[in-house]
Amino acid sequence: MTKAVILSGGWGTRLRPLTCTIPKTLIPVVNIPLMERTVVKLIRAGVKEIILAVSVMSDQLKQYFGDGSKWGIKVLYTNEKEPMGTAGAVKLAEDLIDGDNFFMLNGDVINNIDYAEMLAAHKKYGGLGTVSSYVVEDPRRYGTLVINDQNRIEDFIEKQPIDAEGSEIKPMPINAGTYMLENEILSYIEPNRPVSIEREVFPKITEQGKLYAYEISGIWKDIGLPEDFISGSFMLLNQMYNEADNNQSKLIDSSSTIGSNVKITPPVCIDKDVVIESDSNIGPNVIIGKESYIGPNCEISNSILFNNSGISTNVKIDRTIIADYCKIGENVVIKGTEKSLVVLSTFVTVADNITLQSGDENFGVCHHESIKE
Ligand code: GTP
Repeated sequence: MTKAVILSGGWGTRLRPLTCTIPKTLIPVVNIPLMERTVVKLIRAGVKEIILAVSVMSDQLKQYFGDGSKWGIKVLYTNEKEPMGTAGAVKLAEDLIDGDNFFMLNGDVINNIDYAEMLAAHKKYGGLGTVSSYVVEDPRRYGTLVINDQNRIEDFIEKQPIDAEGSEIKPMPINAGTYMLENEILSYIEPNRPVSIEREVFPKITEQGKLYAYEISGIWKDIGLPEDFISGSFMLLNQMYNEADNNQSKLIDSSSTIGSNVKITPPVCIDKDVVIESDSNIGPNVIIGKESYIGPNCEISNSILFNNSGISTNVKIDRTIIADYCKIGENVVIKGTEKSLVVLSTFVTVADNITLQSGDENFGVCHHESIKE
């Protein structure tokens, strides 16, 4: 049976301050850690053994997934003292991978991939590797692929500086971060040093004409930056709302209490044991994690609250991400702009009557900070 290696050992620097306390792949996407969503989809495709390539904050990941028995599968871990790069991390898993081929996934991607279909496509192509591809309007931040009409990749161009000469904005298929690889690929990775699969391994296999592309559709977003995380989360939220036949109540857990005269503008997802007091306006595009409390007369839109948030009376929140256990005082206003977000890390407190607003760039607050003026 095909196994899967999920990469989850990067620093996640671009998603700070959220990733100062939470590994990027454990960040909740519509109330479920992103990697758990991926693990569940792999299980549905028949995968029974998953190797997590962990490094940074590995303890939290090991604690969350344990031996996998909670999901009825086997979860194993590599031992990477320092991040070894995307290929270096997989090389360390060599002894744990058997069989002919395996999935390799970046753990920070929201998508609708049908893994069983991808495996079937890989077998049909007969190459050494198959890379998921997704067409984006502006490919400059991603590795791009030149694909021929037999789905063979003819050129694999890793990300270039945004203003690099010749970089133009036109829709292109990009490397969507999920791969199906023959075990033979491991022999292309030099051991005991950091190696990037995108920069060092795929170009070689492309030259040999043995790398293929499997085009995916539906939603796709990596959660590299706060704006990617929030837009990807809202894409998934909207998809869930459509799948619920636009029935907003299906996205509110039955254990939560919604007070009188609360107006909910869809789509909004509310997890377990949330209390929303009277006269508040919630939505559109709001995700509220479990055991959160929203006081009376609040307005929350276009924002994500992780678990155990505490929001007092008469608070206005827009274009903001609030991580677990933050406490927001009365009459507080927290607002991002069209171009930027406010991001509060875990355990931040904001005193009464404060206004926090982002400017041209995101405004981030580190964990455990207390904003008093
Ligand atoms: P940035 O620091 O913001 O670039 O984030 P990142 O460190 O997560 O890097 P990137 O977005 O390129 O990573 C894509 C995926 O690969 C994520 O799931 C990372 O956790 C994972 N990853 C990146 N580098 C390593 C590594 O050296 N080792 C392991 N095990 N995983 C990695």
